[in-house]
Amino acid sequence: MKVLGIMGSPRIKGNTDLLLDEALKGAKSQGAHVEKVIVDKLNISPCREYYGCLKDGNCVIRDDMDSIYPKLLEADRLIIASPIFFYGLTSQLKALIDRSQPLWVRKYILKNLPESARKGVLICVGATKGEKLFCGAILTVKYFFKSIGVEYSDELLIRGVDKKDEIKEHPSALKEAYELGRRLAQGESH
Ligand SMILES: Cc1cc2nc3c(=O)[nH]c(=O)nc-3n(C[C@H](O)[C@H](O)[C@H](O)COP(=O)(O)O)c2cc1C
Repeated sequence: MKVLGIMGSPRIKGNTDLLLDEALKGAKSQGAHVEKVIVDKLNISPCREYYGCLKDGNCVIRDDMDSIYPKLLEADRLIIASPIFFYGLTSQLKALIDRSQPLWVRKYILKNLPESARKGVLICVGATKGEKLFCGAILTVKYFFKSIGVEYSDELLIRGVDKKDEIKEHPSALKEAYELGRRLAQGESH
C-alpha cells in the first residue's frame, strides 16, 4: 500500500511537519510504503485557467506538478497536512490543489478517471480555538479528494498551537497523528 503525505506548511519541523511525520510513522508500522512531499520546496504555479486540460486531462503548464500528478493517482492513501492560514489552507497547498483541475476534468468532463477505493485524511493545526477554525480547509480538502476519486475518511484537527514545535507540548496530538496514520494504512478509518 502506498501512502502519500503532502506537507503544506512552509515551516520545516513545525507543527504540521511533525504531525505528518508521526502519521507516516503510524502508516509505516502497518507495512505501508510511505512518501512525503514538501510543497513549499516545489515550484508549482497557480492555475492560470488556460483550460488546456479540457482537451485531454493534462495541464499545459510545465513545472513540478508534472511529478505530483502520478503520485496523486498512484497513492492508495493520501494525507493532506496544513496549518490554518487565514481560515484556509496555505497558498502553497492551494496551488497544488487548484492545479489538480486536470484530474477534475478527467473525472467529470472526459469521464476517464478510473474508479478507485482510495481513502484520504486531513491533518490541520491552527493557533486559535474558534468553532469554525477548520471549516474552510475541510471543505476544500473534501472537494479536492472527491475530484480525484478519494474518499475523505478521517481528520485530526488541533487548535491552540502556534509556535514552531509547540505541538510537542500538546498532551495527545502526536500520538493521535500516529494512530490516524496507522488506522489509515490498515483501512480502518471511519
Ligand atoms: C499567514 C498566517 C496566517 C495564519 N492564520 C491563522 C488563522 O486564520 N487562524 C489561526 O488559528 N491561526 C492562524 N495562523 C497560525 C498558524 O496556523 C499556527 O502558527 C500553526 O501552528 C502553524 O503551523 P506550522 O508550524 O505547521 O506552520 C496563521 C499563521 C500565519 C503565518
